[in-house]
Amino acid sequence: MKPYMKRLEQQMGLLKMLRASGLHTYGLDVSSGCQALMRAEGKDRINFISNSYMGFSTHPRVLEAVSNAVKEYGLGIGGSPMACGNTVLHQKLSRLLAENYGKQAALIYPSGYQALLGAVQGLVGRGDMAMVDALSHRSIIDGCILSGCKTRSWKHNDTEDLKALIERTEGKTENRLVVVDSVYSMDGDLAPLPQMREICDPAKVTILIDEAHSLGIMGKTGKGLLEHFDLVPGNEVVAGTFSKFAGAVGGFVAGDEDLIEYLFHYSSPFVFSASIPPAVVAGILASFDVLQSEPQWHEQLWENVHFILDGLKSLGFDTGNSSSPVIPVMIRDTEKVLRMNRRLLDEGVYASPVVHPGVPLKKERIRLGVMATHTQEQLQRALDILEKVGKEFDVI
Ligand SMILES: Cc1ncc(COP(=O)(O)O)c(C=O)c1O
Repeated sequence: MKPYMKRLEQQMGLLKMLRASGLHTYGLDVSSGCQALMRAEGKDRINFISNSYMGFSTHPRVLEAVSNAVKEYGLGIGGSPMACGNTVLHQKLSRLLAENYGKQAALIYPSGYQALLGAVQGLVGRGDMAMVDALSHRSIIDGCILSGCKTRSWKHNDTEDLKALIERTEGKTENRLVVVDSVYSMDGDLAPLPQMREICDPAKVTILIDEAHSLGIMGKTGKGLLEHFDLVPGNEVVAGTFSKFAGAVGGFVAGDEDLIEYLFHYSSPFVFSASIPPAVVAGILASFDVLQSEPQWHEQLWENVHFILDGLKSLGFDTGNSSSPVIPVMIRDTEKVLRMNRRLLDEGVYASPVVHPGVPLKKERIRLGVMATHTQEQLQRALDILEKVGKEFDVI
């Protein structure tokens, strides 16, 4: 046995059992773009697996921008922006993000994950403290580990618990950071930003918001959680990704000029990684343009979200506190989630089976990501399939 196999043994045993059972539906063979219908395992299925909520990754104007930029810049820039330079496209995207959030500056990272690592690592270090919502994304947790800060968590979306934690840790360390997802990636509920500000601002605690599932989605024009709550820009630092609303790749941090200047020179997830290809940046810029000039997609997304949420609730499904395109169908049983997801896939609905440790035990669910490009007919068909399979498994 190879020496490292000893530490992998337990998980490998579970994975082998899962594969042998035929219930493994992770990482399927896909042979189409990320459209409302996606070809997985050789068959078209209604796509609820992705985070490409706006469906822009296959929009003709986006594709045209990408192909023009490929002709001009080629495939990649050949290294990190610090070494190889920041293209005019990257600079334009930084300015757009800073403007979107009312910040002085922004920095483009190779991925959302790296942006979150970089933001946390930049804002807190050894001796400092990060206070993270209990359901924060893994990138935030890994950012805390990378930074070497002390980490505390508070009950999900419970501002009383946050207040108590802030009072308890007063004076323990000068530099404290509160971190939340604007929209929670598995639950689809929203961070209570207005109340958080009331608690954090007087205590001089910085808030970092992860706008991953919010940029392009939340607010009247898709500017994010601040627009949703009708808040003027405050002291928050903002991080996020282009892999959700734009269905692309890449991330960002937006904040004060000094913070961004510091990150540009010292943030290891930025400095030691190659930048996103200029053509992808051109596609992201075009996505922002489409978001503004074709507002019907944003309206359609929300119509679709309400249609599916109302439909699921009236069928008797438990969708938790979701009020976004991220919709959990709570099952609360690992084996049932895996079996149900296989049945849904066979019937033509491509969704995510989410089990521990992705979510806490007894919170296992099937996750649906709604798209602006889903037609009413596709959504109704998905509801009919969910009803049929939900009844087969005694969920409704
Ligand atoms: C809340 C949240 N933050 C950060 C990320 C990381 O983004 P990316 O996949 O673009 O690296 C994700 C992606 O799953 C996410 O859901």
